[in-house]
Amino acid sequence: MIKKIAADKLKVGMFIHDLDASWINHPFLSSRFSIKNKLVINEVIAAGIKHVYIDTERGLDYELAEPFEVIKRRVESRRQQLAEEQVGLPKQVSFKSELIRAQVIMQEACSTVRTFMCDIRFGRHLESDVINEVVESITESVFRNKDALMTLSRIKKVDQYTFMHSISVCVLMTAFARAMDYDSETTRQIAVGSLLHDLGKMRVSPEILNKPGPLTEDEHQEMRRHVEYGEELLDELGWMGDLSMNIIRQHHERIDGTGYPHGLVDEELSDVGRMSAVVDVYDALTSNRCYKKSWEPTYTLGKLLEWSPNHFGEAVTHQFVRCVGIYPVGTLVRLNTGKLAVVVEQDEEHLLQPRVRVVFDEEFGRAVLPSDIDLAMSDMMIDEAVAPEKVKIDPKSFL
Ligand SMILES: [Fe+2]
Repeated sequence: MIKKIAADKLKVGMFIHDLDASWINHPFLSSRFSIKNKLVINEVIAAGIKHVYIDTERGLDYELAEPFEVIKRRVESRRQQLAEEQVGLPKQVSFKSELIRAQVIMQEACSTVRTFMCDIRFGRHLESDVINEVVESITESVFRNKDALMTLSRIKKVDQYTFMHSISVCVLMTAFARAMDYDSETTRQIAVGSLLHDLGKMRVSPEILNKPGPLTEDEHQEMRRHVEYGEELLDELGWMGDLSMNIIRQHHERIDGTGYPHGLVDEELSDVGRMSAVVDVYDALTSNRCYKKSWEPTYTLGKLLEWSPNHFGEAVTHQFVRCVGIYPVGTLVRLNTGKLAVVVEQDEEHLLQPRVRVVFDEEFGRAVLPSDIDLAMSDMMIDEAVAPEKVKIDPKSFL
């Protein structure tokens, strides 16, 4: 049941259904979340929110706080249910232990994708087995620990953008599909479509594809045709499912009809079409290109949220931000203590308070012995994300 209560009556264990305030007026990524600690209640009150709606089916009731035993039984039953759902899935591991394996997977994926994209340019056939093998290793790594491949896929060489972008979109979409609780077959189809979403670019001339300067109107039109070229290519191959095809067809569409090739609006865009549109833009903006420097992930996510009402839909964009985190692993941040730290672990329940590794003291202008802090359990806060090149610190070297 949904109940409206005064914000100062909130208790740990309640589930907020709605904050009764526009999202731009509060610091929370979503207006729907459970209250894990008192800091969250303080943040709600500090944001000037007077009332909230709580969902008593998903958290504690106002008058009737559940006895501890009832909560414990419910948690245990949910844990059991999750364990049953996880049977057959790869076991989750830490970021550090997945990172080494993820580096090998990334190298192999790069080599395979580069080869098959060249093959397509020369009119050779593309076997589904080749794609399935890459997709399987990416999916398994993402299921073990999504942050390992997601962090690696942000590193791209400018001259290898086209195929590295395909791998990044595949990694991000697989993590997104997992965060959306899609079943394994749906996730596999999403990963296949994502890996091949820009395959049509192999029918665009390399002069246009790799042109360092701005494109002329005609070149721009030709570049946009990569969507139709991709659809034709994959139709010819004949093994691509509808769900995967929707990613190829719709990743440049926008819900306000300004996208291409068909100018689809609102519900005409499928869920995977919207998801791929957000992910494609996120990866393009956070990558170095021959004509522009990359944007910081945190800044990019803010821009995506700003554009979401017209371009991708707010719900899907919020879900994507929840998936990658406001401060993705590897982001360099400035704490309110004046120290610089690297985000080393995400917590979906505390997106503004990830686990960080303090590496530099700006006051004294020197490196410090790295130490980890869980910001959700600390009084320290993140002031802002910092561009690594501005302070000449490579956050990756601290992961
Ligand atoms: Fe594209």
